[in-house]
Amino acid sequence: MARRRKLYEGKAKVLYEGPEPGTLIQYFKDDATAFNNQKKGVITGKGVLNNRISEFLMTRLSEIGVPTHFMRRLNMREQLVREVEIIPIEIVVRNVAAGSLAERFGLEEGTILPRSIIEYYYKSDELGSPMVTEEHITAFGWAGTQDLDDMVALALRINDFLIGLFLGVGLRLVDFKLEFGRLYNEHDEIQVVVADEISPDNCRLWDIRTNEKMDKDRFRRDLGGVEEAYQEVARRLGVLPEA
Ligand code: C5P
Repeated sequence: MARRRKLYEGKAKVLYEGPEPGTLIQYFKDDATAFNNQKKGVITGKGVLNNRISEFLMTRLSEIGVPTHFMRRLNMREQLVREVEIIPIEIVVRNVAAGSLAERFGLEEGTILPRSIIEYYYKSDELGSPMVTEEHITAFGWAGTQDLDDMVALALRINDFLIGLFLGVGLRLVDFKLEFGRLYNEHDEIQVVVADEISPDNCRLWDIRTNEKMDKDRFRRDLGGVEEAYQEVARRLGVLPEA
């Protein structure tokens, strides 16, 4: 690996300076964390699988006109992405009650929601990414109303598309988290694009027949078979790398 400047190291990924101005290299680690960093571990091979899965999903999204930061995969663990100004809001889309929503409202996991629910979280490790409302987001200037409208419209389109895509390979998209960034063109116009990654680290995916969890909940809840679940998602999507 050529030596290059590390710009940021997160829990599951590292960002390096890219080869051209306005580009970054996103490196996928095997490290896994949960519950705001209280649980730490390694999922062997996760970085390689998430690199492929996220490449696949981002590519399918750009084919339907959803703008993303993804440019191309470089190797087993790295992809070239556009440098964006990260909007510090995580958008969670939910179709089925699970995780923190099930807990907060005392719902049984697996309850189908009457309609898809969108939630916002302020991206801050120190604060444990608290849930926030549109009022907080616009009042504190984390995103403007236009940014927010664009993010919600994209999140709903992505949800519709990914529900169908995963259903086609026997997986139920229970919920997922998205991050967005701003790209500026030469006229200083802003485009909101999908950033980060889309993978079993930030989606809940259940087998359609057995309801078996095929995502990071296997790590969070010590269910075992974590690597195998990520591999199975990659296999079903047709992107399992050669051993
Ligand atoms: O834990 P919770 O139920 O709020 O998670 C909702 C969705 O957001 C899940 O798919 C989870 O994987 C994802 N998520 C995430 N990063 C976080 C918190 C949640 O990707 N920091």
